[in-house]
Amino acid sequence: MYRFLSAALVLLVMGCGAPQEAAEPARPAYDGTRVGHFGYGTPASAEQIAGWDIDIRPDGMGLPEGSGSVEDGEWLYEEQCAECHGSFGEGVGRFPVLSGGEGTLTDVRPSKTVGSYWPYTSTLYDYIRRTMPFTQPESLTADETYAVTAYVLYLNDLVDDDFALTHENLASIRLPNEGNFVPDPRPDVSNSRCMADCRDAASITVLSEVPTYVPASMTIAEAAEAEPAHPGAATYDQYCSICHDIGVAGAPKIGDAAAWTARLEHGGIASLGTNAIKGIASEAGVMPPKGGFAHLSDDEVTAAVAYLVEGSQ
Ligand code: HEC
Ligand code: HEC
Repeated sequence: MYRFLSAALVLLVMGCGAPQEAAEPARPAYDGTRVGHFGYGTPASAEQIAGWDIDIRPDGMGLPEGSGSVEDGEWLYEEQCAECHGSFGEGVGRFPVLSGGEGTLTDVRPSKTVGSYWPYTSTLYDYIRRTMPFTQPESLTADETYAVTAYVLYLNDLVDDDFALTHENLASIRLPNEGNFVPDPRPDVSNSRCMADCRDAASITVLSEVPTYVPASMTIAEAAEAEPAHPGAATYDQYCSICHDIGVAGAPKIGDAAAWTARLEHGGIASLGTNAIKGIASEAGVMPPKGGFAHLSDDEVTAAVAYLVEGSQ
């Protein structure tokens, strides 16, 4: 190791002194009779593919044949898992907790376990099969993996102590949190695939610029097509609406024509702008400079004032 390092250092030093042109590695000439697009490599054998192709679907497809009971799993777990995950799945030190945590997902510190968080039993089998025990992955047989999987389910009160898990019944063990894994509901991310009579590609609008201000009531595409928003709308929505929408602390409400007419009579829109920038305190209440958002420019505040006043006539 040391010799290797010093050799590398020498190379580095030489490299610094006299930059040399790295020779381009020779690329094999294209040979259509050889395998693959680039003309080199060998096809993966069925056996090699089988070694990689071990994923399991939630419906159980891909599971190896076999079975293992909670009872068998108990001693295996004690022997090979408990030193890290704890005898009850409570987790030793900072090793992951495997059980409990029901009802904590909305807490500040949720406890995400197989029982409280994971969606599918197939993932549990698959994960243990690929990775555990941590220091000897892939050392368990298929039956042993069924047994420890059954035991982790048992630690989560999902099966009884006389239960045996098999490739046939694994998919029927549903985890409590499965229903909370849902397709992304945002309208802009889902699209059904079209295979026939599809929309004319020319009629589809591709946006190269996403509008910076998208009101909650619109999709991005609608906002892009809509009339440009009032220049003060975005600032108002983000910074002023918290007080002026409902009249917090005596703030005159947007849309309250009488209140805004009275204020306008004092010194016109210019004075309203100055007061919004500098802050204003009266019997009505106190507004800090720029509503408390010092990073806003004077122009942004003035535009928001115009939006407020125009929206209140
Ligand atoms: C030497 C310590 C150690 C041993 C022994 C061990 N694990 Fe783990 N286990 C870990 C670590 C560390 C992780 C987290 C790995 C990561 O996040 O990359 C983990 C993660 C897991 C998880 C996923 C937890 C989650 O919610 O993300 C499961 C399930 C699991 N182990 C089961 C087992 C089983 C079953 C055994 C016994 C066959 C076992 N482990 C043995 C250290 C261990
Ligand atoms: C923390 C609450 C709060 C926020 C945030 C806030 N305001 Fe106000 N605003 C008030 C209150 C309270 C008043 C009434 C003050 C008074 O008359 O003494 C007021 C008054 C005003 C007035 C009337 C000034 C006058 O001369 O009569 C304008 C204009 C105004 N705000 C604009 C804005 C704008 C623009 C924003 C956003 C950049 C904003 N406000 C953010 C609370 C707020």
